[in-house]
Amino acid sequence: MEIQSDKYSIYIGNDVLQEFNAILEDYQEQYSKVFIFCDENSSQFCLPYLIEQVPMLIGAELIEIESGEHNKTLSICNDVWKTLSESNADRNALVVNLGGGVVCDMGGMIASLYKRGLRFFHIPTTLLSQVDASVGGKLAVDLDGHKNQIGLFRNPDLVLIVPEFLKTLPERHWMSGMAEVYKHALICDPAYWSFLENVDVKDEDALLSLLNQSISIKNNIVLQDWEEKGLRKTLNFGHTIGHAIESQALLKGSDLLHGEAIAIGMVVETILSEMTNGLKTDVSSVIQKNSKCFFTNSN
Ligand SMILES: NC(=O)c1ccc[n+]([C@@H]2O[C@H](COP(=O)([O-])OP(=O)(O)OC[C@H]3O[C@@H](n4cnc5c(N)ncnc54)[C@H](O)[C@@H]3O)[C@@H](O)[C@H]2O)c1
Ligand SMILES: [Zn+2]
Repeated sequence: MEIQSDKYSIYIGNDVLQEFNAILEDYQEQYSKVFIFCDENSSQFCLPYLIEQVPMLIGAELIEIESGEHNKTLSICNDVWKTLSESNADRNALVVNLGGGVVCDMGGMIASLYKRGLRFFHIPTTLLSQVDASVGGKLAVDLDGHKNQIGLFRNPDLVLIVPEFLKTLPERHWMSGMAEVYKHALICDPAYWSFLENVDVKDEDALLSLLNQSISIKNNIVLQDWEEKGLRKTLNFGHTIGHAIESQALLKGSDLLHGEAIAIGMVVETILSEMTNGLKTDVSSVIQKNSKCFFTNSN
């Protein structure tokens, strides 16, 4: 499956890695060096499969950071920029971000600012990053525990969605990703909402369909309002409150995932809509009931 975005493509499927190898072969003269940016989990669980499927990456240089939102900082970016510089990365270097939303957000920003911008590809490896974080060109790091304070808009050159990578994803991270999936359905697609009611995400075809529908929803909105002047704000449902809660958790060192914070935000914002904007009580109850499923594992 291919979804066309703004001057770049999003390919979905387990077979896209072979095509990726062919792309790298065709364009190898354009890249002086390839860097794979990952964390210890994507390095352990996803990198071996990636290299096996994409032999063109065998000589790539690995840059690994420690996982977790608390590492999405300028200080870690600084370390990575130094590594790029020590490895003589020039403007024709290519960065391949292999990991969850933290790796994609930070790796995209690192690539975008190094020598005024390297090309970068996203290969997201969590459900949340496949359906949301890898699409739309928002790149950022946190500042003193406050979410996404330093960043920019810049699109990747390519996004590869490989469902195979999700096989090692812990259940709690599946649920965190599903919070963003439900958000996509809630903000604009009742038919998708009904589809989600009975979906078994561990079924291969159902997962492919879910990835396709969620990414299409996000991509369609972003294509109409890339810089978030109006319509794109709908994608922030749950995020105004959610980011505040996530920032508090970060400052306190509590264990709270992005999707869990957003699910809490969706409950609170739904109650506010009921109180101030006339959202019907029965609709509000259904949204609250569904959203609550996504943060039951958090502390
Ligand atoms: N740019 C955007 O538009 C956008 C949208 C939504 C979220 N985000 C950002 O994304 C981040 C959250 O993303 P996330 O939930 O992917 O978090 P994450 O990147 O922290 O990944 C979650 C955990 O899963 C591990 N992991 C990654 N791939 C794995 C795999 N295949 N198997 C096993 N473990 C694996 C990671 O190491 C990490 O421990 C937040 O920082 C959020 O702000 C950005
Ligand atoms: Zn989000």
